[in-house]
Amino acid sequence: EIKAIIFDLDGVITDTAEYHYLAWKQLGEELGIPFDRTFNEQLKGVSRMESLERILAYGNKSNVYTMEEKEQFAEKKNEMYKQLIQKITPKDLLPGIENFMREIKENGIKIGLASASKNAFTVIERLGVGHYFDTIVDAATVKNSKPDPEVFLKAADQLNVPYENCVGVEDAQAGVEAIKRAGMFAVGVGNAEQLARADLVVSCTSDLKLDDIKRAFSEN
Ligand code: BG6
Ligand code: MG
Repeated sequence: EIKAIIFDLDGVITDTAEYHYLAWKQLGEELGIPFDRTFNEQLKGVSRMESLERILAYGNKSNVYTMEEKEQFAEKKNEMYKQLIQKITPKDLLPGIENFMREIKENGIKIGLASASKNAFTVIERLGVGHYFDTIVDAATVKNSKPDPEVFLKAADQLNVPYENCVGVEDAQAGVEAIKRAGMFAVGVGNAEQLARADLVVSCTSDLKLDDIKRAFSEN
């Protein structure tokens, strides 16, 4: 039985995955490390510093910069990202997400947020959907970032729901991996090949339907 549904934020509730991509891409170009959307899949769901390390490794520049320089790069990316999220309004909720959350609530199922972002509270606030969440766990309170399951486990603990009664919803490979390692049922939003580890994949948020998830969950 499903007792809680725990959402990723960036790329699931709203399309901030695109803003992260644009900001990293800009920084990458400044560092002489251009990359495309295919490489970007490896950054989704991954923490800020780990994302930077992956970009530097991709450009064979892992050992070129001091820790101080790396922190400046990460800071620069975050400033660009913060500019982009200033424009967010409730209209930026992805299609069907608010109806889906309402449906979950009506079914007496709890809702959690498990985000790798330190900007999660700002984004949720700008979207005006804070009241849907029974708990919010963000990057500020977890030690290990996705694909480590910590953020999902912590959300379930705070909801007081056993892991096997939880469903996680993710758009990132690292995120789906985190959900599976947490012993939860994973719903992927996006490309079925990229999210092959998920128990159920829908191509977009408007296809998230509680009945479909309940059925797949009980067949699992
Ligand atoms: C995740 C995003 O939610 O948060 C990643 O999918 C991002 O792309 C990570 O790097 C960290 O975000 P922030 O806002 O703390 O830099
Ligand atoms: Mg995401």
